[in-house]
Amino acid sequence: MTTRTVLRMGDPRLLEQAQPVAELDTAELHELIADMQDTMAALNGAGLAAPQIGVGLQVVIFGVDHNPRYPDVEPVPRTVLINPQLTVLGEEMEEGWEGCLSVPGMRGLVPRHKTVRYRGFDQHGNSVDRTVTGFHARVVQHECDHLAGILYPMRIRDLRNFGFIEELFPGQDIVAD
Ligand code: NI
Repeated sequence: MTTRTVLRMGDPRLLEQAQPVAELDTAELHELIADMQDTMAALNGAGLAAPQIGVGLQVVIFGVDHNPRYPDVEPVPRTVLINPQLTVLGEEMEEGWEGCLSVPGMRGLVPRHKTVRYRGFDQHGNSVDRTVTGFHARVVQHECDHLAGILYPMRIRDLRNFGFIEELFPGQDIVAD
């Protein structure tokens, strides 16, 4: 088990555009995915993008069973997504609270497209093609933003809806990251 250090907001590597993965199903790629999975599990994350551990490649993982950091959200299947392409379906947006392992201890209210289609590959080279809504769509958009150097605070419309978890949600049993 290898847990990697997660870069925090302010590190310029989080602002870079990630590069496509040239070859799938390689030992190097499998090692990267395993490290990302170990790191996300150790930190109770809902998702993690390779740039967050300092690897500038278009690789994201996500998945939520019951997550103490997100006690009220619907489950999202555990997914490895490489070289993703997102397509927005419809015009509907919705606001929801987000956190990020690169912005520990904080939450912000972020507008996202309600429905998106995502396509890409898993680490073995199998194609992935899903149309999703709600929290699943939110997580995918958040993770794919990391590949473009975008962190969720950049998308908050009203910064009064951004702050420390303990202050925003006093008394709630939310695990602070
Ligand atoms: Ni994040």
